Amino acid sequence: MAEHDALITELAEKREQIKQGGGSKQIERQRSKGKRTARERIEILLDAGSFQEIDSYMTHRHTDFDVDEQRRPGDSVVTGFGKVNGRSVCIYAQDFTILGGSFSEIQGQKVSKIMKLALESGVPVIGLNDSVGARIQEGVYSLAAYGDLFWHNAQASGVIPQISVILGPCAGGSVYSPALTDFVIMTQGTSHMFITGPEVIKTVTREEVDLETLGGADTHSRISGVAHFAAANEEEALALTRQLLNYLPSNNAEPPPSIPPTDDPWRMDNALNQIVPTDPGIAYDMCQVIGHIFDRDSFLEVHQNYAPNAIVGLARLHGQPVGIVAQQPAVLAGVIDINAADKIARFIRIGDAYNIPLITFVDSPGFLPGLAQEHGGIIRHGAKIVYAYAEATVPKISIVTRKAYGGAYIVMSSKYIRTDLTLAWPTAEIAVMGAEGAVNILHRKRLQDCEDPEAERARLVAEYREKFSKPYAAAASGHIDDVILPAETRPRLIAALELLRDKQAALPSKKHGIMPV
Ligand code: HXC
Repeated sequence: MAEHDALITELAEKREQIKQGGGSKQIERQRSKGKRTARERIEILLDAGSFQEIDSYMTHRHTDFDVDEQRRPGDSVVTGFGKVNGRSVCIYAQDFTILGGSFSEIQGQKVSKIMKLALESGVPVIGLNDSVGARIQEGVYSLAAYGDLFWHNAQASGVIPQISVILGPCAGGSVYSPALTDFVIMTQGTSHMFITGPEVIKTVTREEVDLETLGGADTHSRISGVAHFAAANEEEALALTRQLLNYLPSNNAEPPPSIPPTDDPWRMDNALNQIVPTDPGIAYDMCQVIGHIFDRDSFLEVHQNYAPNAIVGLARLHGQPVGIVAQQPAVLAGVIDINAADKIARFIRIGDAYNIPLITFVDSPGFLPGLAQEHGGIIRHGAKIVYAYAEATVPKISIVTRKAYGGAYIVMSSKYIRTDLTLAWPTAEIAVMGAEGAVNILHRKRLQDCEDPEAERARLVAEYREKFSKPYAAAASGHIDDVILPAETRPRLIAALELLRDKQAALPSKKHGIMPV
């Protein structure tokens, strides 16, 4: 009896030591930076009491630079599994209180093990990142561990959802794991991602830059597009992670999780009939369109601040998760530029990988002209959209709300890239280009020669508009499947998704295509 008690006491003591991470001083330091400990974060993220930790006794074997003096059970990461809203997930959380959460041989082994477990169990994996980067004292062992993690990220890509939450520094080699995952969530002020820090940059390029400008949440969610979400703080980032998981299946063999519908499937919002101005020069907010059509308050916008001329996000229709791709006419008239193309193409592939039907709203005057765009490779970036839609076998439905000119019409989920149902509103304009531009090209000579060029131009523009600034020519030739009243959109989409629920579509047999990147 006493011997058993001693064993139990020993285990309890070890558990207590493990819970202390890098010790009280380091925990204090962590808190002073406005950050929580790895275990506190896990507790907030997972359903109460569901966390099952593994590998908490593993320790490193290195001695260079006296690193053996800082040997702590569990090393610099906490790993295990638990539940989010009742569904299993695997998780790892870097522990900054132990050697700055540096990526070590042991951290690599623990993370790789949990990722393998996630992949074999078919459950999402969530990484809570807070690390100074490769553990310098371990040399190549640390680099090898990184390589192994990247390999696991690539293997899991498109099979199980992978979410990276950045809650502190994510420097050097650390950035490539989040970049290989599906979603990156950062916190404002406390998280930074960069390959080389301000000091190195100053030495190499002489540029002086602070951490926030270099790689803060604002920078990555607005400028680089590395981050899909910028949360105000850790609580918001972790709540967002839970919310995001609600739209995703546990793995690519499952449908995304439906919930009992709470909104009327037949709801026809008459406000939609007035939302698109008849003057093509006047903007409107596509987010309002989305708000009127999908289940109330279900829209979770992804990449909200990056390339805001395009909109992508997850929502529900009659309880079923769907992916939304759209132009935003209120920003740059909804033109497609390099960043918008990247944003759209990436999101289409996420939807297709995880069996999430794609609904596209089209209102774009085309691709952004200009030297910077051409030299930046708009050709290959724009091609990504076609590639992603053409490759996607999930149900695809498009609605042309207004302008669908030229390339933008073709690439944005048109019939020709195998969209299952193409609908248009009465305000739709489907043409090679806008009326003014077309008249200038087609009738240049005639306008030069005539007596009253302005009156003649106005007449020709009106004639062109009558023909192409309405959807009926496209519908008459079957390029558009139906012209619908905007208010009818919600019930029409729900009915179409029901039809397409068990859609079968196959791609030619291949190892993989060569996606333009
Ligand atoms: C081991 C490290 C470390 C490292 C810092 N520490 N960097 N230990 N390996 N790479 C230690 C510190 O000595 C300190 O130990 C503890 O971690 C916390 O670090 P601080 O600097 O005190 O923290 P903070 O002030 O919050 O600053 C965080 C930071 C800064 C901004 C990230 O540490 C920094 O700039 N580090 C360098 C980041 C970097 O360049 N990493 C790239 C590594 S190379 P004590 O004992 O005092 O608590 C790389 C290449 C891999 O990753 C490529 C793979 C493909």
